[in-house]
Amino acid sequence: MENWAEHLECTLIDEESLQKRIHELGEEITRDYEGKDLVLIGILKGSIMFLSDLCKEIPLSLAMDFMSVSSYGNRSESSGVVRILKDLDQNIENKDVLIVEDIIDSGLTLSYLRDNLSHRGPRSIQICTLLDKPDRRVAKDIHVNYCGFIIPDKFVVGYGLDFSEKYRNIPFIGALKRELYE
Ligand code: IMP
Ligand code: MG
Repeated sequence: MENWAEHLECTLIDEESLQKRIHELGEEITRDYEGKDLVLIGILKGSIMFLSDLCKEIPLSLAMDFMSVSSYGNRSESSGVVRILKDLDQNIENKDVLIVEDIIDSGLTLSYLRDNLSHRGPRSIQICTLLDKPDRRVAKDIHVNYCGFIIPDKFVVGYGLDFSEKYRNIPFIGALKRELYE
């Protein structure tokens, strides 16, 4: 099996920059959610590394839950069709929900998720994403409350993000070579 380094075009965001920005996001979220009933909802599987680093930067008594949805299959374009593969374990009624995503591309996944969760009676719902590709947005009604980095229209992997389930273990964010996904 080859090393993943050969499959990357470049490093987009290195480990140090990730940790520095996540520390800042944690401070901001901590300030905003003081005195609230925060539930972090990680969207599996892409957000695992981001969520696990982010939650350590938020010294509040918060809860965590997970959802898994599928919209892509093995392709690199969103289909707009979202399926819930794993739902929350907890009731979010009267909770202050913060959805934690790896990346927002078309925004279709998040638009569906936010509408779905908002019907369950939370006190508030906000969105935190590590990466945002605003040039690719299709769902215009998505408001991102916390964003780590705005990135160009490249397919990125690493730090939890995959292409066909691979590359999640790369410790930084890299751009995948175009010939591998086009
Ligand atoms: P959207 O519905 O188009 O916003 O897609 C959101 C989901 O697509 C994310 O949660 C990722 O799982 C996946 N995705 C979108 N762009 C990328 C990328 O550049 N690398 C890896 N996954 C991506
Ligand atoms: Mg994915």
